Amino acid sequence: MSKGLNILFCTSEVTPYSKTGGLADVSNSLPQELNAAGHAVRIITPKYGPIDERRLRIYEIKRLTNIEVPVGNKIAICNIKSSFIVSPKGKVQVFLIENSEYFNKESPYIEAKTGKDYSNNDERFIFFNRAIMQVLGLLGWQPDVIHCNDWQTGLIPAYIKTIYAKDSLLQNVKSVFTIHNIAFQGLFPHESFLKSGLPENIWNDDGVEYYNKFSFLKSALIYSDAITTVSENYANEIATTHEYGMGFEGILKKRRKDLYGILNGVDYSVWNPERDSTTPFRYTSKELPLKRENKKALCKKFGLEFNAEIPVIGIISRLSDQKGFDIIQQIMPQLMKEDVYFILLGSGDKTYQKFFESVKKKNPKKVGLHFGFSEELAHLIEAGSDMYLMPSKYEPCGLNQMYSLKYGTIPIVRATGGLADTISEYKNGTGNGFVFDKYDSGELMKAVKRALKLYKNREEWIKLIRIAMSYDYSWEVSARKYVDLYRSIMKKA
Ligand code: ADP
Ligand code: GLC
Repeated sequence: MSKGLNILFCTSEVTPYSKTGGLADVSNSLPQELNAAGHAVRIITPKYGPIDERRLRIYEIKRLTNIEVPVGNKIAICNIKSSFIVSPKGKVQVFLIENSEYFNKESPYIEAKTGKDYSNNDERFIFFNRAIMQVLGLLGWQPDVIHCNDWQTGLIPAYIKTIYAKDSLLQNVKSVFTIHNIAFQGLFPHESFLKSGLPENIWNDDGVEYYNKFSFLKSALIYSDAITTVSENYANEIATTHEYGMGFEGILKKRRKDLYGILNGVDYSVWNPERDSTTPFRYTSKELPLKRENKKALCKKFGLEFNAEIPVIGIISRLSDQKGFDIIQQIMPQLMKEDVYFILLGSGDKTYQKFFESVKKKNPKKVGLHFGFSEELAHLIEAGSDMYLMPSKYEPCGLNQMYSLKYGTIPIVRATGGLADTISEYKNGTGNGFVFDKYDSGELMKAVKRALKLYKNREEWIKLIRIAMSYDYSWEVSARKYVDLYRSIMKKA
């Protein structure tokens, strides 16, 4: 067997310490899978204000305190704390970077009250990237690969290739950058670039300058040894079209041979109806009456009257344009004329929140809403709903459609990004959901109607549920692809 690799996984969110979306799930489960495959993985992430140190068993590491990190003309101080993600798969060490000025905030990126980005996000994440570089030599452990994720870690590849290039520890280190969402580009003014400490000679079109702005994302796309994104289809979309590449398609086209689409996996120890400790009833595909009991519990929770004949359509999502809420909005009047329940768990854009509140006001017996973040409700919605709606405008991978399959909750999706790679239209006993192509409310409504029609055919519906539940998107295959990629870039000079 070949020697295991040392991998440092850098991420701005990871469950159970922080989470705003799928990145947090991936940052927890991919390292565990790599670790289980015999590689030594450490995760490094900010320690945000609300993290409960006692509950999550976070401890100080004496020798990793008071580390100096330059941010512009200032020296910021960081402490590294340690914790472990422990699961039947093994134990992965997590380093949490503490700095009260930058990270003692209620949410990772945005002011909860206003919904706006923190005004010092440039400094917060320059600090995070630079702190990682500064602590590398102190960990007593040398990574072969530094795996960075999204713009919040995008400066690391540039640091490795510039101001830390002569560092003996980094001579053979390779960097991989994963794009989880290209819409988030880490764009800041030139002054922010000056605070990064990166050399002036990379402030140009071939470096980190993006139309007169400093882009963390561009830094990663230019300087990382390999780029990945979270589905094959999204890799093609972002490298070939402006619509999906969002301005970065040119750079990606140039780096096409270094760009890989590797589908996210699911952690079935967390998202599994057979073992879900948060749902009232656990079930397999042979025990579907128990799924119905979860549906009862779900309806009760949202104040809706249970009726086995009426399907529940569930959504768990960031309330953002990405997720297709404008076309959901457009079909709402029509949808409310159907025999359906609509249950939404979401947080984000307040205008969508207001809209759904008004829909509920008009249809109190059909609509259930919860605005905020709740893991427990997310699991109950997966377990109790009949259908899961995800008509995204774009979707790098998407996790909820895969979770839904496992819970026998049939996805209705738009064929984009990872949704197209994982869901196909159910027809004549094959396929696992309902799919439409064009981003259009009429097409969405037609797909919903196809689902509602099939739901009435109990026998066919159960057949579809059983097919959906048999899909296996576990991490094993994808983790192996990451390892192959790590090894292939390590061979390069
Ligand atoms: P994205 O990362 O674009 O938001 P994904 O489908 O990859 O989309 O992952 C979303 C993750 O966040 C899932 O684990 C989903 O259950 C979770 N999630 C989103 N909104 C909420 C919420 N309001 N409460 C609990 N979990 C949520
Ligand atoms: C992003 C994407 C989502 C993906 C997740 C994890 O937030 O929007 O599609 O599943 O990252 O990679």
